[in-house]
Amino acid sequence: METRSSRARKGIVLAGGKGTRLYPLTMAGSKQLLPVYDKPMIYYPLSLLMLAGMREILIISDPVELPRYRELLGDGARFGVSFSYEEQKAPRGLAEALILGRDFLAGSPSCLVLGDNFLYGHDLARFLAEAALEKEGATIFGYRVANPREYGVLELDANGAVTGLEEKPAYPRSNFAVPGLYFYDEQAPELAAGIQASARGELEITDLNRAYMKQGRLKARLLSRGTAWLDMGSFDGLLEAATFVRTIQQRQGLKIACLEEIAFLKKWITQGELEGSLVKMGRNDYSDYLEHLISGRE
Ligand code: TTP
Repeated sequence: METRSSRARKGIVLAGGKGTRLYPLTMAGSKQLLPVYDKPMIYYPLSLLMLAGMREILIISDPVELPRYRELLGDGARFGVSFSYEEQKAPRGLAEALILGRDFLAGSPSCLVLGDNFLYGHDLARFLAEAALEKEGATIFGYRVANPREYGVLELDANGAVTGLEEKPAYPRSNFAVPGLYFYDEQAPELAAGIQASARGELEITDLNRAYMKQGRLKARLLSRGTAWLDMGSFDGLLEAATFVRTIQQRQGLKIACLEEIAFLKKWITQGELEGSLVKMGRNDYSDYLEHLISGRE
């Protein structure tokens, strides 16, 4: 019989929120559907879950926008994964994702990624896949930033263990901000249910991470300086991410966060299935890229 800890890790993308920082761009549409160069924003966080090896993924958004995500992504078969969908009635905070995802997770460990997080870099896929193998506790990440006051910030002891987590501190204890990507064991829904809403009325992800920290079960891994982390939820971040993607893609001739490619290289879809996607898409640069992927293998 399958034991709890042997269950495959499942992914959750949180793609709701108000998106006020991007008004008027997001007044009549979901932030995570906005274009970031040649793909909708949500492709980038989805690619992280897939690269880390997750094939069962829950997408959470508000009731008005959720059908649009379904229309865009479907059941996941064309990416060799399975997508489920869940409504978040109001933006009650990031930690609510674990409560809304309880039935979907059904006792499995999880990885939560925020729909506006962009991460890309050397060895990142291997780094994430390694974190995904952890059986116990929670793993968060630290990323060196010039302006830690704007983020959740890690406090680390001499051995690199997490000793504190502070939200937008006036006097940060380190330069390591915490990106919106969190690995949890199967206890996360239960711990999230025990969190009280903060003064701004949200279930804070920092409080969930603190709950793991208090139990001595929170680890932090530092992302290398060869990694790019961008928050696509601001005007500058959105443009920076688009420019970054365009620059790297044009230079290398390789796409960032091409979900069909990730699925194909992982052998989660066959060549025939990839050809099916290509036909549906019609002729454009994106489908040309997929075609080259196939012809390069023949
Ligand atoms: P934020 O960027 O913190 O919030 P927001 O998207 O509402 O934007 P703004 O600050 O401009 O008003 O959210 C981070 C990510 O989490 C983003 O992808 C939206 C998502 N989110 C939810 O899906 N539900 C929520 O309750 C919250 C707070 C955020």
